[in-house]
Amino acid sequence: MAVERTLVLVKPDGVKRGLIGEVISRFERKGLKIKALKMVWLDKSKAEEFYSVHKDKPFFNSLVEFITSGPIVAMVLEGDSAISVVRLMIGATDGRKAAPGTIRGDFALDIQDNVVHASDSEESFRREFSVLFSEEEVVPDY
Ligand code: CMP
Repeated sequence: MAVERTLVLVKPDGVKRGLIGEVISRFERKGLKIKALKMVWLDKSKAEEFYSVHKDKPFFNSLVEFITSGPIVAMVLEGDSAISVVRLMIGATDGRKAAPGTIRGDFALDIQDNVVHASDSEESFRREFSVLFSEEEVVPDY
């Protein structure tokens, strides 16, 4: 068993549509542990830092505009194989192609406005975590 941590966002479209509870509930029911949780409204520089791996992509400016368009909910989830398990649960990036039963498959119909984000690797988790959280915001084991 490999206990991992992953970083999940409920994006501005998910927050505006009242999907915070739905998203968190799915992870709780799966058995993942919430280790940190907060609502934030990213400014442009934080958003650019968070999505820095996409800075050369044609959709980068639009993505930064979208992710700063309203508050988001950021959380750290922990559990066995949490990174791959959560990626499976959120589904493919494009909501039109995401499998039914996944979060994007059930709630998204767009490639950008796709309700949630989750780390795709341990390296991404470490970088994303450092942009949004400090170690003191992570609760001890419970
Ligand atoms: P996310 O998993 O947060 O990772 C990068 C984000 O960029 C992605 O979800 C989408 O919100 C967005 N994105 C990815 N590909 C495209 C695209 N082709 N056009 C617009 N936005 C995209």
